[in-house]
Amino acid sequence: MNMSDTDLKSVEARTLEAEKEAQAIQEELDKLVRGDLSYTSHPQIVKLLSENEKLKHRLAILENAIKTASSEVMKPPKKRPTLISNIKSIEGTICVVDELKKIFTIAIQSAYPDLEDLPVVITLSGNNPKFGDYQCNSAMPISQLLKAKNIQTNPREVGNNILIKTPSSPLIQKLVVAGAGFLNIYLNKLFVEHVLNSILRFGVKPPPVKRNRIVVDFSSPNIAKEMHVGHLRSTIIGDSICRVLEFLNHDVLRINHLGDWGTQFGMLIAHLQDKFPDYKTHSPPISDLQAFYKESKKRFDEDEDFKKRAYACVVELQSGHPDYTAAWKLICEVSRQEFQKVYDRLDIKIIDRGESFYQSRMDTIVKELKEKGLVEEDEGRLIMWSSTEQTGIPLTIVKSDGGYTYDTSDMATIKQRVEEENGDRLIYVTDVGQYTHFATIEACARRAGILKDGQKIEHVGFGVVLGEDKKKFKTRSGDTIKLIDLMDEGLKRALDKLVEKGRDKVLTPEELKQAQEAVAYGCIKYADLSHNRINDYIFSFDKMLDDKGNTAVYLLYALTRIQSISRTAQVSLDTLMMKFEKSGIKLTHEAEWKLGKVLLRFPEVILKVTNDLYLHSLCEYLYEISSTFTEFYDKCYCVEKDKTGNVIKIFYERLMLCEVTARIMTKCFEILGIKTVSKM
Ligand code: ARG
Repeated sequence: MNMSDTDLKSVEARTLEAEKEAQAIQEELDKLVRGDLSYTSHPQIVKLLSENEKLKHRLAILENAIKTASSEVMKPPKKRPTLISNIKSIEGTICVVDELKKIFTIAIQSAYPDLEDLPVVITLSGNNPKFGDYQCNSAMPISQLLKAKNIQTNPREVGNNILIKTPSSPLIQKLVVAGAGFLNIYLNKLFVEHVLNSILRFGVKPPPVKRNRIVVDFSSPNIAKEMHVGHLRSTIIGDSICRVLEFLNHDVLRINHLGDWGTQFGMLIAHLQDKFPDYKTHSPPISDLQAFYKESKKRFDEDEDFKKRAYACVVELQSGHPDYTAAWKLICEVSRQEFQKVYDRLDIKIIDRGESFYQSRMDTIVKELKEKGLVEEDEGRLIMWSSTEQTGIPLTIVKSDGGYTYDTSDMATIKQRVEEENGDRLIYVTDVGQYTHFATIEACARRAGILKDGQKIEHVGFGVVLGEDKKKFKTRSGDTIKLIDLMDEGLKRALDKLVEKGRDKVLTPEELKQAQEAVAYGCIKYADLSHNRINDYIFSFDKMLDDKGNTAVYLLYALTRIQSISRTAQVSLDTLMMKFEKSGIKLTHEAEWKLGKVLLRFPEVILKVTNDLYLHSLCEYLYEISSTFTEFYDKCYCVEKDKTGNVIKIFYERLMLCEVTARIMTKCFEILGIKTVSKM
């Protein structure tokens, strides 16, 4: 075959073109190899690169699939939680939210077995019955998870898939998918009635939990100084935390970390020796330790000789000299008696274990930290940083005069509580101002290996107490308010309130006194506990003694009124229980049903409080019970009377509901440390 000239030319031209192109590609590739080019415009290379990308992507998908497949092989099968299969098996209490969580964990796991760490979100529906009683709101996050894995779906579809896989449960009457995949859960009335009936039969029982050893450090005033409103808050909040934990049968150690050690005792002892030289034989009349403290502090600041003697006293005391120890004990005892008056009035149980308890343990911890090379010298002091980065404020482990500090004693408390007390939870209740102190202590304890993985400090912080003028809570003359005076005023105001309502005319003197104390101490505690503890709180007797709204007075009244319903109908508990054996509570009326469901939530609220240690949610719940009860009582007759006031019909099942309401409210008050009265 012969080629024409034109043919030949065109072949030559094409060859030339191809050569040029090859050269251009080579140049671009060279640049790419040298790293001069991050982006190339040559169409051939663009195509190759994009193919390369696709292949890499396919490879990654394959590698991933291999990984999951092999981990599936290694992974133990997911443990299915055991569910309640029969209402009758429930004795006492059950935490509904937790049970629903289990049910929906199973549903979601079986609907989406390939997804890991699926979010199981259960919330309480609002007041609108359209949304059911609870909701499972997992569909939305799951559909997002699926989309991220390139699986096309929508929340509604996910919701339906979960619904199909939900195991049947005696708790649930009906399940409806609404809106964007929300699963509305309607509770089974028979189940709710059964739970309320068991409360009537067995009392208010705690939900079962694993028993822990829990150390709660609270109150903790300082010897020879006034116990102030900050300590009062710590006392009230700490006691209530102990009460809720004790209700759950935890092993709780209530610790009063008194400030009973340190250099201030030198000046106190020196002053005691001067003022009461015969203190060893005659107990000195120092009832006003605060004044005594001020006097000695004045001398300490102004008199150099006295200062020297004070330091010498500290040395004697720390070396265990019996006379000095006796003087120190004496001073501590005076303070303790003062503190005890406050505890007695508020019904607080606590074990005194002050800073002095840790003396030898402080030596030990200092030695340990030194040996581990965790302390360093800084202008004569020994300090410890919470991390090698040396940020924030270090702890002062030993002062330049060789003495120990608040930091040293708290390092020792942690070690003691972890190693000797075997504490599972370490709770410290102080004002939020000490937040950084405890955060640093925690970090240092972790660095020193005292706190292991999973162990932590729980600092329960609270805001400052303000007066009604929103300034720091002080007397008119600017002094700190003595707690005993504060409580006396509470007593007086409570009595005024009761008299104003004419209660002195109906109650016996004994009943009146009980009511007065319940109201006085109850209102002080409740006002503190019902506010979110983190916030500052305004101390106002007028507000706390208000008989409307979320106050102790209102709630205590509400409880006595509920308790008096059966009493005025002359139905004894025995009679009620006899009727109960024949037929238990029936939640027929819509207002009964609503109240029943609120009462059912008690374990849920308790468990939440034990986790986050915020007591105001318990107060809010108590208030919700009381308002829901009022609604029920307005709509439903418990006792029907004729025009002349004669009882014509008694609704026993409703009286039973009243009884359960009263029992749960009483338990809430008990946990809040508030005494209830049957009459007020
Ligand atoms: N005594 C301290 C004070 O009045 C409170 C002690 C708190 N407990 C502790 N382990 N640091 O502020």
